[in-house]
Amino acid sequence: MGTPAKDGAPVTLIIDGFEVTVPEGTSVMRAAAEAGLSIPKLCATDSVEAFGSCRLCLVEIEGRKGTPASCTTPVAPGMVVHTQTETVKKLRRGVMELYISDHPLDCLTCAANGDCELQDMAGAVGLRDVRYGHEGESHVSARQNGEANPRYLPKDESNPYFTYDPSKCIVCSRCVRACEEVQGTFALTIQGRGFDSRVSAGTSEDSFLTSDCVSCGACVQACPTATLQEKSVFEIGTPTRSVVTTCAYCGVGCSFKAE
Ligand code: FES
Repeated sequence: MGTPAKDGAPVTLIIDGFEVTVPEGTSVMRAAAEAGLSIPKLCATDSVEAFGSCRLCLVEIEGRKGTPASCTTPVAPGMVVHTQTETVKKLRRGVMELYISDHPLDCLTCAANGDCELQDMAGAVGLRDVRYGHEGESHVSARQNGEANPRYLPKDESNPYFTYDPSKCIVCSRCVRACEEVQGTFALTIQGRGFDSRVSAGTSEDSFLTSDCVSCGACVQACPTATLQEKSVFEIGTPTRSVVTTCAYCGVGCSFKAE
């Protein structure tokens, strides 16, 4: 949804028959949320600027052609928005179908099962069937046969705190934007185009460990799937040393122990 607009002049619009007044500059998606309406989304969050890449939050606006992304469309006075027309529902299902057609189908054994936004949104848009070739299915059978799907790069487990599994990435760029906007590190980027596009930490040869990543975890927090996953204590192992340090965020001088 992006950073909430706070100081603009009030703008009143109608969304799905509900009148809502929000500050100028607010996105249609956030205005809908203010009215208690939920629009499906994958690439928008409250912590980073809206980007408009996933195309799941499409809406119809009376008097305008097309189906704009509600996360990047600012409100306008008198605007009349429809978020649940048959046209946008069909478009959202089509978009979701494309995401799932290229995604591993191992939800039941996936670490993010039950805490996966892709899974939630597939349900929210009413996806029941996928008509396109299942790269995901072949990926699962390849894994079952102990082979790697040639289209996917191997997992990057170089970082001591989290893993990066490119096969589960939907290239929403939330991690890239969190790295830039939340942490200010600029360690991540999107490389390639189409099916070959992927998140990269530095050049194509680089791993997370050898990149500029500072292991802050902002990208892991931002990831809507199991692409970036915290390692469990079993993977990390028990701490071998501890450090007592003083927090630098304010002048109080709290000490804490890190293991
Ligand atoms: Fe709007 Fe992704 S949430 S395009």
